[in-house]
Amino acid sequence: MEALKIAYKLERQFLVKFLFVLGATALAYGQDDGFAQDDNVYSWYILDVTRILQNAESNIIVSPSNIRALLKTPPSMNLRFGFDEKTMLGQNVIFAESNMILNNPDTLEWFYDCKIQETSFTDKKKLITSINDWSENIADQTILKSSEMILKEENLQVLILNMLNFKETLQINFKYTLNATFHERPDSTIVLPAVETTEYLKYLDSQILDAKILELPYSNGYFMYIILPHTKQGVNETINNLGYEQLTRIEWMMKERRVNVVMPTFKYHFITDMREHIQKNSAHRFDVDFEPAFGVETKKINIFQTTLVQFDGSGRARVEDYEKVRTTKYERFHVDRPFAFYIKEKSTGRIVCIGKVLNPVQ
Ligand SMILES: *[C@@H]1O[C@H](CO)[C@@H](O)[C@H](O)[C@H]1NC(C)=O
Ligand SMILES: *[C@@H]1O[C@H](CO)[C@@H](O)[C@H](O)[C@H]1NC(C)=O
Repeated sequence: MEALKIAYKLERQFLVKFLFVLGATALAYGQDDGFAQDDNVYSWYILDVTRILQNAESNIIVSPSNIRALLKTPPSMNLRFGFDEKTMLGQNVIFAESNMILNNPDTLEWFYDCKIQETSFTDKKKLITSINDWSENIADQTILKSSEMILKEENLQVLILNMLNFKETLQINFKYTLNATFHERPDSTIVLPAVETTEYLKYLDSQILDAKILELPYSNGYFMYIILPHTKQGVNETINNLGYEQLTRIEWMMKERRVNVVMPTFKYHFITDMREHIQKNSAHRFDVDFEPAFGVETKKINIFQTTLVQFDGSGRARVEDYEKVRTTKYERFHVDRPFAFYIKEKSTGRIVCIGKVLNPVQ
């Protein structure tokens, strides 16, 4: 309840701020500096990230910043100014029963920066094929199974899909591959492919999170943070203590250490049904505001957000600093239990995606 209240308050602040930004952008075109700190906090709470991650019964990954961006409603008229295009990463597509049912197809294509694809919504198999063809084209992988329950809504006519496929290059290269043991559940371990290296990396042993945290640098200013609970089944409790502001504070406290890292390789994706989450978690305008923009009843529209992430340990090898390497002391960071991770863009503070991994080979 408290979280909802905060979300609501942040939402109000956001709306005011958004209107201000609209005005300011119109006045000072090109001065826009993109994502601000408040937006990141707002992104986190509009989705109730903590609760969603905690409740997930299998691997999950969500993109708070993209979800926030997707909740902006397109203008109902042909007004083409004031839209901050830098807020959404990845690619979009709009599937529609027909172009004819939409009010402003051109505006929608511009707003979501994509083409509208006409496809049958009555033939669910065909719809799934259309979606999978599109995702294969972009990410070399299908995202829906043929029996997908996510498309169960009967009267759907318009589907907006955003796909974030995280594909940056690691700034370190894991030197070894191995088969590692992973404590999937209290009573079961599995053996799975993993990678290992020893490097100078930012690290923290956090009492607040009851976990160790490690920073892995990517190119283009992105960083992956691995949150490894102290206890083997502690991932849900650790997530319970997560909040956007707190993660930022923890990152400040991280120190460079020589760390021996063993990480399982993993690759997975997750689809977020925006209607379900937003209606459950907030009094959001999704219910009323999309209709005028699309010219289609809100209940016939849905938005999905898909995030794909892959970790295989390969990257650009660092040149070792031999002065430093002479120390033999190192921290152990062996990811052998369910863990959480998130990817952040340092310059904007935006959380590109955050996930929980219960079983890396799932
Ligand atoms: C965390 O909670 C979820 C949902 O209740 C459960 O399925 C999962 O097994 C839990 N994970 C751990 C490591 O306890
Ligand atoms: C891991 O185990 C598989 C199957 O037993 C084996 O084929 C593979 O060579 C092992 N890999 C390493 C790096 O030891």
